[in-house]
Amino acid sequence: MKINVWSYKEEYKILKKKILHEVDKVFSSGQLILGKNVESLEFNFSKYLNLKYGIGVNSGTDAIQIALMSAKIGKGDEVITTPNTAVPTVSAIVSCGAKPVFVDINEDDYLIDVNKIVKSITRKTKAIIPVNLYGQCADYDKILKIAKKYKLIIIEDCAQSTGSFYKEKPSGSLGHLSAFSFYPTKNLGAYGDGGFIGTSIKKFAYRAKELRKYGMRKSYYSIEHGINSRLDEVQAAIINIKLKKLKNWIIKRREIANTYNKLLQDTSLILPKENKNNFHSYYAYVVRHKKRNHIINMLKKNNIYCNISYPFPIHLMQGYSYLNYKKNDFPIAEKSSKQIFSLPMYPQLKKKEILKVVKVLKEIGI
Ligand SMILES: Cc1ncc(COP(=O)(O)O)c(C=O)c1O
Repeated sequence: MKINVWSYKEEYKILKKKILHEVDKVFSSGQLILGKNVESLEFNFSKYLNLKYGIGVNSGTDAIQIALMSAKIGKGDEVITTPNTAVPTVSAIVSCGAKPVFVDINEDDYLIDVNKIVKSITRKTKAIIPVNLYGQCADYDKILKIAKKYKLIIIEDCAQSTGSFYKEKPSGSLGHLSAFSFYPTKNLGAYGDGGFIGTSIKKFAYRAKELRKYGMRKSYYSIEHGINSRLDEVQAAIINIKLKKLKNWIIKRREIANTYNKLLQDTSLILPKENKNNFHSYYAYVVRHKKRNHIINMLKKNNIYCNISYPFPIHLMQGYSYLNYKKNDFPIAEKSSKQIFSLPMYPQLKKKEILKVVKVLKEIGI
C-alpha cells in the first residue's frame, strides 16, 4: 500500500463524469479562455468569500503580483512577508518591482509573528502579505490594527487557506485584497494552473481585471503596462464543480487532522495547533521533530511519502541573496525549516491509510 502525501486520483474517480461533461461543453462552445465559466466562477467564489469582486487569473503567483500592481505597489516600495512561505509569495513581490522585507514566524503556528512587524516598517513600506500557511489564518486583529495605523495595504496570501475562517469570516475577506491558487494540490485545486484575486474595493478590482490582460480596457489598447494572466474555461468549469464540494472536503480534512491529533498525542512529535479565532482547513498537517530526516526516511521505507513545506527559508536562498539577509536573521523560521514535515493529508485519505501512517510512526519509536 503506497500512501502519498497528496493525490487527486480518488477525487477524479468521483468527479470524472461531471468533469468530462463540462470539459466537452467547453471544447464544443467555441470559447476557451475568459468565457462564461470564468464569469460564473468569479461570481460564485467571490460570493463564497463574501466579497464584491473576484478576478480569475492564471496562477496564485500572478494573483499576488496583480493584487500588488492593482494597489500601485512597485519600484521603490517595500512589502512585508515571512521567509517561511512558498517562493512565489516573494517572487511576486519582486516581479512587480518592489522589495520583500521579511519578518520571523511564531514557533507554534509557523505564521508571521505580528509582534515583530512594526519594527520592520519603514517610510517605504506599502503593504503586508500575511501568508495563511498550511490552512490557518495569521493574526488579523493585530495585522489590521497595524495596517490602519501605518496606512498599509493588506494582501492575504490564501494559496493554502481556501475554506479557512478567521472569526467566522472566510479567509480571503480579511484584508484589502486576497490571492488564491488553484494549483492542483490546493484545497480547491484545478486540473492545471489557476488563480484568483478577491476584493471588495472597486478600483482594485477594475484595475486587476485590466492588468491580467496586458492592461487593456478595450481590445488592442493598453492603458497601462499589464501582464498576460488569463484563466482558461476548462479550469474554471472544474473549479465550479469542486467549489460545491469544498465545505465537505474541509470537514474531511479536519476529521483526518483530529484522528492524527488523537493517535499521535503520546509521541514526541510536535503536532499542529489550531489557534483561537481560527477554523483551520488543514491544507497540510504539519508536524515537527528534531529527527525529521530520519523519520521521513523510515516512512519512505514503508511506502509512506511526506512533504516538507519548506526546507529552505527564503532569505537564505541564493536567488534572494541580493537582499543581504544572513544566517540567524530569522531564527525561528530557520529552526523550523530543519524540523517540520507534512504527513499525508487529502480528503479521500482512507482510515486504514491514516492508521498505517500512525503505526509506522510509533514503530520508529519517537
Ligand atoms: C503560500 C503560497 N503562495 C503562493 C503560491 C503560488 O501559487 P501558484 O503555484 O498557483 O502560482 C503557492 C502555491 O504554490 C503557495 O503555497
